[in-house]
Amino acid sequence: MITEEIKEEIKYRCDIVDVISAYVPLKRAGSNYTGRCPFHSERSPSFTVFPSTKSFYCFGCGAGGDVFTFMMKRENIEYRAAVELLAKRAGIELPPDNEPRSQDSVRRERVLNMNREAARFYHACLYSDVGKAGLDYLTKRGLSGAVIKHFGLGFAPDGFGAVTSHLMRLGYTAEEMSSAFLCGISRKNNRPYDYFRNRVIFPIIDVTGNVVAFGGRVMDGSLPKYLNTSDTPAFKKSRNLFALNFAKSKCAERLILCEGYMDVIALHAHGFENAVATLGTAITPEQARIMSKYTKQVIISYDSDEAGQRATSKAIKLLTEAGLDVRVLRIPGAKDPDEFLQKNGSTAHEKFKLLLDQSRAQFEFKLESVLARHDISIVDERIKAAAELCSIIAEVYSDAEREVYIGVVSDRLDIQRDSLKNDVKRIMRSRQKTQKNEEMQEIIRKTSGFGDSVNSDTIKNVLAVSTEENLLGILLLYPENMRSIKRGELKLSADDFYSEFNRRVFSEMMNRYSEARQFDFGDLAEVFNPDEMGRITSMLVRRQQLTTNDSVVLSELIERLRSETKQKRLEETGDQIDLINEILTKKGKKPRQS
Ligand code: UTP
Ligand code: MN
Repeated sequence: MITEEIKEEIKYRCDIVDVISAYVPLKRAGSNYTGRCPFHSERSPSFTVFPSTKSFYCFGCGAGGDVFTFMMKRENIEYRAAVELLAKRAGIELPPDNEPRSQDSVRRERVLNMNREAARFYHACLYSDVGKAGLDYLTKRGLSGAVIKHFGLGFAPDGFGAVTSHLMRLGYTAEEMSSAFLCGISRKNNRPYDYFRNRVIFPIIDVTGNVVAFGGRVMDGSLPKYLNTSDTPAFKKSRNLFALNFAKSKCAERLILCEGYMDVIALHAHGFENAVATLGTAITPEQARIMSKYTKQVIISYDSDEAGQRATSKAIKLLTEAGLDVRVLRIPGAKDPDEFLQKNGSTAHEKFKLLLDQSRAQFEFKLESVLARHDISIVDERIKAAAELCSIIAEVYSDAEREVYIGVVSDRLDIQRDSLKNDVKRIMRSRQKTQKNEEMQEIIRKTSGFGDSVNSDTIKNVLAVSTEENLLGILLLYPENMRSIKRGELKLSADDFYSEFNRRVFSEMMNRYSEARQFDFGDLAEVFNPDEMGRITSMLVRRQQLTTNDSVVLSELIERLRSETKQKRLEETGDQIDLINEILTKKGKKPRQS
């Protein structure tokens, strides 16, 4: 059991602004701090941290809570794990965990431990007789012993039971190994067999230092060239980047994004420790978002073949959406960064540095790729190219930037600036219209409560629910009011609540307050999920912007809620007898019997 006192102490020592700053660059805004939300893509900061209530809330996506909720969401962990993490940071010893832990977190930990053992095993194989071929291969590819150690590279022997029998001896079951993709299960005899065989091994290590997955490369031309761990209880491909564990402290200004493990390793070996790669898949929005948490600028350094260039366009889009400054590197005379570095021997670092400095802004990259696809000496083609480029320029936010690009296109295509300008304006206007429509739809959707997955009763009585949220907001902000409720000085009970969700929030708050005689809203994260916590925080935050503790407002709200709830219940049950009686009584007639 972690007591209130311990949690308070952790929160006191782990200042919410400090903790969140490690993930999100924050700027002071009055007594609060704002930044770009780590939970959704946005350009302008709507993510806010409130030191006074030790909470955060995003006005864009509705994520919110206290420092523990933040860690739960950010690290994708459970409540207990979030408390443990922050306790460690604060140097606070937690009492041993007696409660049985959820199966998920046990599994996750088992998988991580097993992965670590497997990584050690593979690495050791590289230096034993069975692994000679692996070591030779890596050496031939120009990797020094130091680099091999730094990345913990390894070798998976060419048998069916090398790593599996090793892990069995350490007490891991076939089921566990197969859930971690370290083995398959034979259909013939139901026995586990090694998944990676006769391959050099690249361990994937997450930013907290866990071995989360592996990539395994063949040493000849056979296929598939790489095998990779699929998603496991401890790993999501779409959320990890190879070598971010090393790059994270070297990339405040810029990250280099490559396609391959070997590119990243070669770059690090040549002093570019800010290089990362996706894990055998195209870049995902999550990965783009993760990068935006660590850096301002990403230089895409994909292979120069057609596939690489196509992937570049997609990466530009996702990275720009995540608010990053994107540049594209062109590698002359080599198919990828690895080959370029190998070719240039002792001048490799210098030469690559030069490429980085010359990396082109994304517009130029797009311009070149449009021009490469159209023969602009043909009128039709020239028109098509101009149309594509106008459409690209219309996406640019800054007037000045658009002006510059229009100038460039005007020169290259020999078309009047004004004509281009008009085309761009027209495209922008029509896009704005579509966007406005979409926004309007969104507002209608929200105000009608449709799709409110946290509180599905909203749609049935918007007014009552918003009154409830106001009320709960005040209680969250000024928990001392709960004492008045408990003593009966303020009359409010769970029955007064119309929506089931808010009733649950109210009851939970009152129970906690009654037991501990104090209340911290963040504790609700023990029973409410992160989405629900977001909603609860929004009640607190919205109220915070409105009022001081005001008993008149509170009483008025209670009155309003009562009448709303009553009215609505009558309508719903169809049992209008009370209402009819009230009317009859007013008119001086005898009430009917129900
Ligand atoms: P590359 O073929 O460019 O690999 O694929 P590479 O890392 O440069 O390796 P070398 O230089 O040929 O040794 C880029 C990335 O795509 C994934 C891997 O993550 C690889 O690093 N990939 C490639 C796979 O997952 N499976 C494959 O079969 C091929
Ligand atoms: Mn390659």
